[in-house]
Amino acid sequence: MRFRRLIIGDNHVLSNYAVMPLNFTLTSGQQIRPAKGFQEWVSHKWMDFCHLTGVPSQIIYMGDLTEGFCEKTAGVGIWSADKDDALNAFKLLHLILTHGKDIETYVVQGTGYHSGSQRGINLDKECANEINADYRMVLPLEKDGRLDQFAHQSGGVSLKNADTGIKNEIDFAENNSGKYGYPLPNNIWRGHIHRYALRGDDKVTAIQVPCWEGTTPYMARKTSFIVPSIGGIVQDFNEKKLEPSIRKIIFDIPQDIAIGFNEVELLRIEKNRFEAESIKGIERELRTPTLRLETITANKREEGKCLTSKSIQSNRKTIGKHLPPS
Ligand SMILES: [Fe+2]
Ligand SMILES: [Fe+2]
Repeated sequence: MRFRRLIIGDNHVLSNYAVMPLNFTLTSGQQIRPAKGFQEWVSHKWMDFCHLTGVPSQIIYMGDLTEGFCEKTAGVGIWSADKDDALNAFKLLHLILTHGKDIETYVVQGTGYHSGSQRGINLDKECANEINADYRMVLPLEKDGRLDQFAHQSGGVSLKNADTGIKNEIDFAENNSGKYGYPLPNNIWRGHIHRYALRGDDKVTAIQVPCWEGTTPYMARKTSFIVPSIGGIVQDFNEKKLEPSIRKIIFDIPQDIAIGFNEVELLRIEKNRFEAESIKGIERELRTPTLRLETITANKREEGKCLTSKSIQSNRKTIGKHLPPS
């Protein structure tokens, strides 16, 4: 092996369902560990992956390095909303992957929501700065007379059909290469879908890269109970400069932890469903008035930040004069 390139998709650090360092100190000083179940398993698999691949020559991160702060879901599903925690945790995982060496690294831009654009920052870019990586929207890399092209996602993709996007990419690349003279890549790499797939013909191979995050409530809502591929890809360039080998390292998820969330969390981010359930519960309690105020207090305490002012208002309309003044 002359030159080893690692291609790493969708780390989603900060997510409760994704890889994190086995021991981590928050900026507040608190020490935390991965949650039991899927997160603990996937975090150990990161260590296994780093051990299996050894010291690489080059690393490509395919975007979505962090989960972001999830403003739309009021932070449900993340273990920190602190930017420094995000950067420190990602950097620590990167240092394990490089075995502490200075390795040429590239980051391609991930999905806007996960890079934290709502706060006017770009976490993917800040992570790239933190580890001295080159940050690009689209990354073409030429080596040994072969061209590899990396970008986060393909348009019009479906979680259900992991290879739809890369099949389209091959068609577009070949058509536009013939028509407009665009350089035709030997390999097209994409992330975002969180599932491994490979397509190709005699000219182009396209690879959908695995990830480091389990099934989230959001994914389950999109496609009921889909299970992502966990792992990464190793591309080895040889002495004779012949076609490099491409190998996948994918870890089978044990059946008992394959779904990384529970029903309560699923209910919480289903905002409309949550409101409907909440109102139903209050209406039920109104029929037994002695329990009424106690139930409302319990709802507020248990659901915390998920109970938005809008849902409180709609609850007020439903129960009207029975509520205490605000
Ligand atoms: Fe992602
Ligand atoms: Fe994405």
